[in-house]
Amino acid sequence: MDTAMLYALRDPLGVPAHPIIFLILGVLTWALHIAAVHVLLGASGLTLVGALNKNAHWRRLADAMVGTAKIAVSVAIVLGVAPLLFVQVIYDPFWYTSNVLSAWWVIAFIAVLILGSLALFAFYGLNSKMVQTPKTRCPGAMIAAIALFLLVGFIMHALSVQMLHPEKWMQWYAPNGVVDASGRALHEYNFWRFGFFISLSLPVIGLWLLAYRRYLQGRSQEDVGYLDFVRGLALRLTSIGGVLALGLFVGWMLTLPNNVQSFATSLWPMLTVAALLLAVATPILLGKKLDQGIYGFVPFAVGAVALIVLGLLREMLRWTTLFGVHGYNPFDYKLHMDWYSTLLFFLTFALIGGSVIAYLLTVSWKAGQTKGMYVASPLVNRMGTLGIATLAIWIIQYFAIGLWVAYTG
Ligand code: HEM
Repeated sequence: MDTAMLYALRDPLGVPAHPIIFLILGVLTWALHIAAVHVLLGASGLTLVGALNKNAHWRRLADAMVGTAKIAVSVAIVLGVAPLLFVQVIYDPFWYTSNVLSAWWVIAFIAVLILGSLALFAFYGLNSKMVQTPKTRCPGAMIAAIALFLLVGFIMHALSVQMLHPEKWMQWYAPNGVVDASGRALHEYNFWRFGFFISLSLPVIGLWLLAYRRYLQGRSQEDVGYLDFVRGLALRLTSIGGVLALGLFVGWMLTLPNNVQSFATSLWPMLTVAALLLAVATPILLGKKLDQGIYGFVPFAVGAVALIVLGLLREMLRWTTLFGVHGYNPFDYKLHMDWYSTLLFFLTFALIGGSVIAYLLTVSWKAGQTKGMYVASPLVNRMGTLGIATLAIWIIQYFAIGLWVAYTG
């Protein structure tokens, strides 16, 4: 596929803000997406192991982790939509072609995701008393949920890799000159790359467990035996998972396509390995400090930064492939600056996102720290009212400006 053809596939309307904004937001939101995916997969895995165990600590952990997985699946989905929007704005010739070539799987993605979420919720509904009873009902539902989530991730992986191979599109579309418009095949994947992204669930859930443990320490009379159990498990998951992920990362770099092989020895893989090692080492470096102040939350925060570095590496590999090899530059996209939508996006994020998230976090933090019934203070109530008020103002301005443009424009 020559460069001119790739440019011809672009949206003639251009983009509403400089492409670098979409690129940066794409990297950041993908890092958040994959962090939520890691928490989802890690928590689901721990739920399964705990649910099949009779040990009281494991059962308590399974009970907590199924609640975490339930929320993480919603967060992973919401935070998956964001990079989806950004990637299709600046890389539309590649993303859409990759999607159309595997259209059947793109549509199946939604069904598989719904089935996976239903299986998770079914398990949760059937096992609301895991702490009290040694019996687990229908562990198969949890196994199915994990398998279906992995399939969802694999579809996204194949789409992400296929978009990097425009030179193979014609051969996939018309193998031996015979058009295959079924969209039933996933044409390109790399198990090292996929395995690496998935294996990071182990260290990430380890770092998450340390934060969970610190959160529990805030309660009075917390079971010390359980806290020690969580700490030991978290450190094992972080270190063993870290080594496994490192091995798979090396495999990914060694199996890069010939035309971008030099990327493996560039600065980006080194930076990524350094950031991941730092995240894995942080709990060990902090030692006993993990029990003080906000230190227990620091390892997860360092992990989140490491995932942003990983997101950057992933983006640089895409850049090296699409610009370096195929001559496609997303930064020369035709720009039709739209200040209203750009400002609205950032203000919505800062004001509505900020006020509503601050309220939700405060309520869940305080409720978790309270034994018995939690009653919100007047200040917390005011935060809630402020969140609803900003949302109402947003809706009014949205329709007011829309109608004004429609009737005066
Ligand atoms: C819940 C199960 C999910 C899992 C396990 C998962 C996993 C992954 C993985 C491993 C990747 C990286 C693939 C690669 O680069 O090789 C990825 C990328 C991506 N995921 Fe997810 N994902 C899930 C759900 C979703 C959902 C529901 C959406 C959107 C609604 C989504 C949107 C994306 C997008 C857009 C990318 C690629 C972004 C880009 O190329 O810049 N994911 N996902």
